[in-house]
Amino acid sequence: MSETGLEYGYCQKYNKKIPLDENTECVHPNEYCKFRPSCLINELGKENRRRKRAAMAQKMGTLYGIGVGPGDPSMITLQAIDCLKGLEIVFASKKAGVEESIAHTVVKPHLSPSAEVRFLEFKAIYDREAFDAIWAENARKVAEVLKEGKDCGYITLGDPSLYSTFSHLIRNLRKQEPSVRIEIIPGVSMVMAAANLLNVPLSIDGETLSLIPSAQIEPERLQELIRASDNLVFMKIPSDAQELIKRLEEEGLLHHAIWIQKCCLPGQRVVKELSLETLEEEQERYLSLMIVKKGGIVNP
Ligand SMILES: C[S@@+](CC[C@H](N)C(=O)[O-])C[C@H]1O[C@@H](n2cnc3c(N)ncnc32)[C@H](O)[C@@H]1O
Ligand code: SF4
Repeated sequence: MSETGLEYGYCQKYNKKIPLDENTECVHPNEYCKFRPSCLINELGKENRRRKRAAMAQKMGTLYGIGVGPGDPSMITLQAIDCLKGLEIVFASKKAGVEESIAHTVVKPHLSPSAEVRFLEFKAIYDREAFDAIWAENARKVAEVLKEGKDCGYITLGDPSLYSTFSHLIRNLRKQEPSVRIEIIPGVSMVMAAANLLNVPLSIDGETLSLIPSAQIEPERLQELIRASDNLVFMKIPSDAQELIKRLEEEGLLHHAIWIQKCCLPGQRVVKELSLETLEEEQERYLSLMIVKKGGIVNP
């Protein structure tokens, strides 16, 4: 029986008698219905769904999105280490075909001996639907753990809020489990690590800064973005970076550009004299970013 004291309600659209209790739900909640604004069944259905979500949230574990820094083992935060110590299940993403997970190497010494690391595979594809399907499946794997009432972590290089797979995971997870509890532990981003490696400020006083995910920017927009800011950081450099280098050359900025490869990792390289020729040698594009400072790369 409902709080109104009534045992039954009436669906006017489908001429149906509906019991009013904790399972009451609108006959077709996703359909247009002109009776909806004043329908008691619909109201009770909404309240029942809200209660079930709240009860589920009470039982669910928390997902921790943990930024582990740029890959240098000394650049993981104390907060991340503390969190990792207490987790029994830690997820890490893994690009299909790539053997190692740098984030996993960084966290390994900080995990409890009984902790289990589960890898979530993904492919870097630009077909939004196919990409989302991969992350919906990965989100289901995380949701399974959370629904058992267990906390778990998801480790990501740099910071979880900057071009991280963590965003794709939680977007899908929230669709599947709207009341999921998520906490984010910030990490040192590649951008900060690279800028500090050069020993120059990334931006100063009134200067502006743009982060540009090059591989995902249309060539026509590139020029506009290059002109718009005093300082530029190019990430996600495409395998064919010649277009980008040519643009910088045209804008007279190539001598203000520095290419940083494998920042904070074995094999780290800083290339200052950029040209189409030196670019041919840069194989490891995924682990590269480029900093351009229009005022010049000089120490203040
Ligand atoms: C998916 S984004 C991840 C960014 C990360 N969440 C952060 O906070 O910096 C990956 C991009 O970061 C840059 N990157 C990642 N690792 C790097 C490294 N070791 N050295 C230089 N750039 C790197 C590359 O531009 C790459 O395309
Ligand atoms: S809102 Fe739902 S339950 Fe109410 S009349 Fe319409 S279809 Fe029936």
